[in-house]
Amino acid sequence: MYFYDKQTDLKAYLKKILLNNDNVGFVPTMGALHEGHLSLMKESLQNNKITVVSIFVNPTQFNNPEDLKKYPRTLESDLEKIKSLNPEIIVYAPNAEDIYEGNTVSKSFNYDGLEFQMEGKHRPGHFDGVGTIVKKLFEIINPTNAYFGEKDFQQLAIIKKLVKKNKIPVHIIGCQIHRESNGLAMSSRNERLSADERNKAEIIYKTLKTAKKLFSTKTATEVTKWVTETFEKQKIFTLEYFEIADENTLITCKRKSKNKNYRAFIAVFVNNIRLIDNISLK
Ligand code: PAF
Repeated sequence: MYFYDKQTDLKAYLKKILLNNDNVGFVPTMGALHEGHLSLMKESLQNNKITVVSIFVNPTQFNNPEDLKKYPRTLESDLEKIKSLNPEIIVYAPNAEDIYEGNTVSKSFNYDGLEFQMEGKHRPGHFDGVGTIVKKLFEIINPTNAYFGEKDFQQLAIIKKLVKKNKIPVHIIGCQIHRESNGLAMSSRNERLSADERNKAEIIYKTLKTAKKLFSTKTATEVTKWVTETFEKQKIFTLEYFEIADENTLITCKRKSKNKNYRAFIAVFVNNIRLIDNISLK
């Protein structure tokens, strides 16, 4: 594994090793790596001459200081995982100073309205922070392909928009959600759950699967009502939102249309830990 914590060193190294037509695959992460991240790296390794993984807990995308403070930071074990997956992977794990160069603030982005839905409503400023850091990382690494998990489906849509609007020459590749054996979507935040909470969190994916079944015969409003009532009966889980939305615009479904693809999105709190998930309703 090749480790860099300074962007100038990383850029110099990439310049030295890359020939003109070499594909560079990039997997941006905030660390606390799990199987989901590793599967993105595997995908990148298969399709690119070199793979770069970044590990950086980006402060500007956290709207909640407590969430930032408690976000798991496990650099050493992350590096071990990367090394055992493939020793050729290049890691960029900067501190805020190196990547923000003394100005740790977000730029403001227009994502044609995608930013006003779901996560955007509940996490003000979040997608400006994501856009700021991802654009910086793309400028440093210049990847051919960049890999993002579908657990953050709205983030994936926003990154595609960012790239299109700013004409950044990178292919954005979305990869399917990895789940624990009880169906819970893999997430770095799962590390903060107790064993009991982790078991019980199976309710989230179970609810999504039932919602999918119900949506074949019921309206979006009826399904949403059922999900809300299901969570009202739960002791340790609080539903922040459940929405059925158009996969392309992320606008809430009011009346089903045959030529649209819908997806159900959910955000749930357990003991102040925020978990999100989604499912295609096709
Ligand atoms: O999905 C994440 O882990 C983060 O939002 C990302 C894309 C690494 C940007 O900080």
